[in-house]
Amino acid sequence: MGIEIRQLHSVFVGEVSGVDISRPLDPETVRAIDDAINRYSILIFHDQALDDERHIAFARNFGTPEVSINSIRPGNRSSAIPNIVSDITNLDENSKPRGWTDRRRLFSLANRMWHTDSSFRPIPAAVSMLYARDVPPKEEGGETEFADLRAAYDALPAKMQAMARELLAEHSLLYSRTQLGFDDFSPEEVAAWPPVAQRVARRHPGSGRATLYLGCHASHIVGWPIPEGRIFLRDLTEFATQPQFVYAHSWTKGDLVIWDNRCTMHRGRHYDPAYPRDFRRVTTSDISSTIEQAA
Ligand SMILES: [Fe+2]
Repeated sequence: MGIEIRQLHSVFVGEVSGVDISRPLDPETVRAIDDAINRYSILIFHDQALDDERHIAFARNFGTPEVSINSIRPGNRSSAIPNIVSDITNLDENSKPRGWTDRRRLFSLANRMWHTDSSFRPIPAAVSMLYARDVPPKEEGGETEFADLRAAYDALPAKMQAMARELLAEHSLLYSRTQLGFDDFSPEEVAAWPPVAQRVARRHPGSGRATLYLGCHASHIVGWPIPEGRIFLRDLTEFATQPQFVYAHSWTKGDLVIWDNRCTMHRGRHYDPAYPRDFRRVTTSDISSTIEQAA
């Protein structure tokens, strides 16, 4: 049986059935999933049984995994997790939810702001593949919201599109954290994450469509006064996250969701941190990305 895809939102998001991604995939299935990523931006697979090894094997079908920022962050749960797997969890070394003032928990709260994974890296992320090992009860929240930045670009006035195409924004992981008042960075973290410039609008390689490229790592517009660039980015973000461009995924244990960071943003939503929320993510690098890559 081949894969089937049901579109869940008017402009993006495909729910995929008919494939067990824990097993090696044939080239036709890989191509069908790749085409679906380019078409839908977000793909949702239910009832999957993945360990880190199978997760990595699946991800390698779609590119080269990047090394997780966990590799230099203090407070990791386990050194047994491969460094290309991000441990997206609220659990500590004893598999208990982290405390209210836990440093790593506070560092991670910025993931509740709209962002694009790894836009702070010189080679940013292509696709993220997030797998749910344990989730809070649905009524406790913890959804992930996604915004379609190709559809948002298409809906912008032509003058704004032209302006966005000309601009570079500076992205910094430290900047996104300081917006919430977190500034307790180690010297290793400061050295590891210098700011980088990214285009504000660019062309999505898999579809040829123009897209915005935003998120809370974006600090300001290169060459503009800081307040002018910052409010411009906020205006674009508000525009791009109107309800007609946004889908909320409510997680069930065993879900794997793929999102294309080259043309979407996402954010986690509030949940009661007393419940375990335990995810693993493998993310491929966007090796085709350059700041010359105009929309
Ligand atoms: Fe993220």
